[in-house]
Amino acid sequence: MPAFQILAATGNAHKVREMAAILAPAGIGVLGPDDVGGIPEVVEDGATFRENAVRKAAEIAAATGRVVVADDSGLEVMALGGAPGVYSARYAGPGGNDGRNVAKLLAALEGIRDRRARFVCVIAVAAPNGDVRTAEGEVRGRIIAGPRGDGGFGYDPVFVPEGHTQTFAELPPTVKNGISHRRNALAAAIEAGIFECLATTARAGPGRPEGEQE
Ligand code: IMP
Repeated sequence: MPAFQILAATGNAHKVREMAAILAPAGIGVLGPDDVGGIPEVVEDGATFRENAVRKAAEIAAATGRVVVADDSGLEVMALGGAPGVYSARYAGPGGNDGRNVAKLLAALEGIRDRRARFVCVIAVAAPNGDVRTAEGEVRGRIIAGPRGDGGFGYDPVFVPEGHTQTFAELPPTVKNGISHRRNALAAAIEAGIFECLATTARAGPGRPEGEQE
């Protein structure tokens, strides 16, 4: 039984699964939106990963009365001046998807030899009383010429992390979850005591969900 449980403010089942796997060894359980009967939609139009992550965590914590973890993340490609960045999910425009985003990225890098890139993740943890803390993580790597592998999501099939020859979509999830931007941001949050601090605040405050155990 985890020491406490937090709600992940994301409709992305891959992110929920990765956060749960990364936080389990620290004794932190992760609930997805389906476990709490759904969460309201939050508009992600902030200019930075941090702004979006804080907005998602704070709004969902206030709406649900729970401690919430939100992740805003994306891919920054050096030769493209940091694009797609905060627009990673919407890079190919409205109605886009992972496949179209990857295709647009590969077209933008056609003929470019500098393939350096990094994934960035900002984690925001919010309590229902309005307290929010953040932590950031990155993983450096390079973009290959064509997609490889079936695992993961997003740009995983074209991203090879430093020190490896396989893409995030080819590497086993345990390997990705040991080195990823998400893992590094969550590890920084654990290190800084952010989860315990906000869980304690929430237990002491009026917003504690009914039936939650000490
Ligand atoms: P968000 O849900 O607004 O944070 O969008 C994040 C987007 O960045 C995703 O839709 C992916 O395109 C990309 N992304 C973030 N993290 C990863 C990852 O771990 N692997 C592959 N793509 C990612």
